[in-house]
Formats: sequence, C-alpha cells, structure tokens
Amino acid sequence: MKLTVIGCGYLGATHAACMAELGHDVVGIDVDPRKIERLQDGDVPFFEPGLSDILRRNLDAGRLRFTTDQLAAADHGSVHFIGVGTPQEARGHRADLSHVHAAVDTLVPTLRGKHVLIGKSTVPVGTCEELSQRISYLTAPGADIELAWSPEFLREGFAVEDSLAPDRLVLGTGRLVDDPQAPQTETLAGEVIRDIYREVLETGVPLIETDWATAELVKVSANAFLATKISFINAMSELCEIAGADIGTLADAMGHDPRIGRRFLNAGLGFGGGCLPKDIRALTARADEMGAPRAVGFLREVDAINMRRRSAAAELVAETIGGEVLGRNVAVLGAAFKPESDDVRDSPALAVASRLALDGASVTVFDPQAMENSRRLQPSLGYAASAREACDRADVVVITTEWAEFVHMSPDELSPVVRHKRIVDARRCLDAQAWRAAGWDYRALGGPVAA
Ligand code: UGA
Repeated sequence: MKLTVIGCGYLGATHAACMAELGHDVVGIDVDPRKIERLQDGDVPFFEPGLSDILRRNLDAGRLRFTTDQLAAADHGSVHFIGVGTPQEARGHRADLSHVHAAVDTLVPTLRGKHVLIGKSTVPVGTCEELSQRISYLTAPGADIELAWSPEFLREGFAVEDSLAPDRLVLGTGRLVDDPQAPQTETLAGEVIRDIYREVLETGVPLIETDWATAELVKVSANAFLATKISFINAMSELCEIAGADIGTLADAMGHDPRIGRRFLNAGLGFGGGCLPKDIRALTARADEMGAPRAVGFLREVDAINMRRRSAAAELVAETIGGEVLGRNVAVLGAAFKPESDDVRDSPALAVASRLALDGASVTVFDPQAMENSRRLQPSLGYAASAREACDRADVVVITTEWAEFVHMSPDELSPVVRHKRIVDARRCLDAQAWRAAGWDYRALGGPVAA
C-alpha cells in the first residue's frame, strides 16, 4: 500500500521505517529539513536500537523516502498517518495540539477523492471530535475524508520490536460532523488497517476496533496505569525506608500474583521521559476541563510521589557524604530517562544532577548515549568522556540510569579512581554485596537491600 507518515520525529520516523519493513511504499514528511536530510541519508537522528538497519534497508529497497514537500502526501496515496508530537504546553499541563492542527490544516485542503487519515499521536479524549469539525471545514468540494485514531504503544529502546510485534492494535473510528445521522457502517479505516497489518495480525495480535473517544482514552489510560504502578511501589519504598524493610523483596513477592505482575514495580528514581509525566498531567487537565476533576485526582499524587524521588535522591547523596554537597565532587552516571535511549526529556537523572549542582556540588555527568542532548539541555553541568573519567576524584558516585555498562561496572576497578568509595544506587540496579565487599559505602534509594 502507498502510505504517508506526517511528522518524522521519534514516533513518525519509527512508524515510517516499520511500515516500509512490512512491505509498504512509504513517504515520510516533516517540516524540519535537517531531520529529513539525515533520515534520507539513512541516519537516525536519535538513538534507537535496530532502527537504522531497517531505515537503510528500506531506503535502499526504494520502499521509503523522506521529504519536506507538504504536497507529497496528496500525490503519493490515500492513507495518511499523523505522527507529530503532542508535548506538554509551555505554560500549563495540557497537551499542546498545535502540531496536530498544523498537520491537518496543511494536508486536508490538498486532498481530492477518498482519503483516510489515521492519527498515531497521543491526544486528549475529544480530539477526534474536534478535528472532525476542522476537517469538514477544510475539505475541498468532492473530497471524502475519513478520520481514525490508532494510538501507538511503543517504548523507547524497543520501538522496532513494539511496532512490528505489538501487544495489540487499537483503531478508533467515527463519522465526520457534517453527517452525524449517517448509519454506522463498516469504515474504510478498518479495512485499511487490516490490509496494512495483515502480516502482524496473522500472528495473532488482537485488533480492537472501537470509537474515537475510547481509542484516545486507551492510550492515556495505559500510560496513567503504568505511571501509577511505578509511583505505588515508590510510595511503598518510602515506608520500607522507615521500617527497614526491603522494597525489592516486597516487589518480587507482590509480583508473583499474576493479577499484579512484577513488571513496572522497580522502585528507585521514578519515571521520566516524553510520555508518562506529560500524559498523566494532560489527562488530569482534560478531566478538569470535562468537569470530572475527581475522576483522576489521584494522578496528582502519582506525579507528586514521582517528583519526590528526585529530591530524595539528592538528599541521600548529601547524607552519604555527611550532610553537605557544597564543594564536593559528585559523579552522576546516567543522564537519559532510561537505558537504551538518548532521551533526556523530563529525565530524573538530569534533575538530580542539576539539583546537586544548584546545592553547590561539582557535578560530572556521563551517559553512554545522551551526552549531546544533556549538554544542550544542561550546559552548565560538567561532562566526562567515560564513566571512569566522571568518577575521577569523586567524593560520591550516583547511579541515575541503569545502563548495562554501569550495572556491570567492577567496584575494584573504580576504587583507585575515586577520592571516597561511596556509591548511591538511585536505580537499585547494582549488586550491593559486591560493592560492600570491595569496601564501598553502598546506599540504595528506597531503603535497605536484602543481604
Ligand atoms: C511509555 C510506555 O511504556 C509506552 O507503552 C508508550 O507507548 C510510551 O510511553 C508513549 O506514550 O509513547 P517510554 O516513555 O518509552 O514508554 O518509557 P517506559 O519504558 O514506560 O519507562 C518510563 C519511565 O519509567 C522510565 O524513566 C523508567 O526508568 C521508569 N520506570 C519504569 C521505573 O521507574 N520503574 C519501573 O519499574 C519501570
């Protein structure tokens, strides 16, 4: 099938490459010429394992190309995905839909004949309803445009796997406002999605077909649930710290109950990134607008618990070196919001590093992939070329992102480098016994670690 993908950021570029990998003829469109140039050269502008192989293979096969030409969509085909970003508003907690609006406003008037627009971006409930009015207004005479929403559930670091072998596909359809009385018939979008994902659906992946509002809400509910799970275990870790109980063992024991499950129960520095934090805030803001502030009022607490982890980490670092970080050398290992990513948006790691620097510490950061993004966001922090260099004469080492290279670091090799053998494991990812055996003062965020 001939497909266009509008927006070639993290979501759109991955989606375009994966659609081509499924055998479709794909054009990716973005307003940023630098991004398009890099993608067209086979160079992924962010770190995502496995993506560059797929990108290059499909560019070479002629199934994929990228352009800034906004008119290319109308010329290319009749199925258009919208994968632009919906970040948190600069002032406020709502999702900023300006890129979605711009994509629709640019695309729709250029279309003639029958077209299907399928949104992938994470949007507040009610967006399709609102967009349908916009589309009706912008549609050229004689054109027929169907709007559907198929939210994306991919995780950074597993984007290719999650796109080609998703847990589920969701498709929300509705009818455009100019024909509200029209009977609900089989939509073209349903047929289109089944064709596009034929190979994937044949493996047994469920396709959940529903209305616009449910599809919009599935995505934000899933992220809100994951955020709640993480904050729940972090709240328990606050109690474990006081009680001297071990949160890791508690999570393991809870996780054996299949109704609960062990995944997303890792206590530590909490969640960050471009999705979970902004999605719980946008959902809270949307519920307020809908007149149902109490429905998800608990998400404010989920957010507050999560933000408390960052201050708790900075306080534990200070406590480890005797109460004051002023003038001390602190090595911060990790800047990305999670391993296998170079994303530093709302990164708990960088938040801790900045807080320690504000408190007067001399902070040196190292991350295997996120150095460039960190420098851009926090230029005043110190940066090192390796973990070892960051730890040079450190009074304390802090693990803020659980990259494998930090998890497997040898305490004996690091011992001669640092000034004091003190380590704060804010992600609870190290082998506490090994570090203690090598003479290190090992402390974990969230209370004691079982022997
Ligand atoms: C998240 C969702 O997991 C995806 O399903 C969703 O599609 C995506 O947002 C999105 O909306 O686009 P992602 O932001 O890539 O994916 O990251 P996660 O793997 O969910 O991790 C989020 C944060 O939670 C990270 O900072 C991670 O360190 C933290 N986390 C995760 C914990 O603190 N504890 C855990 O047990 C698990």
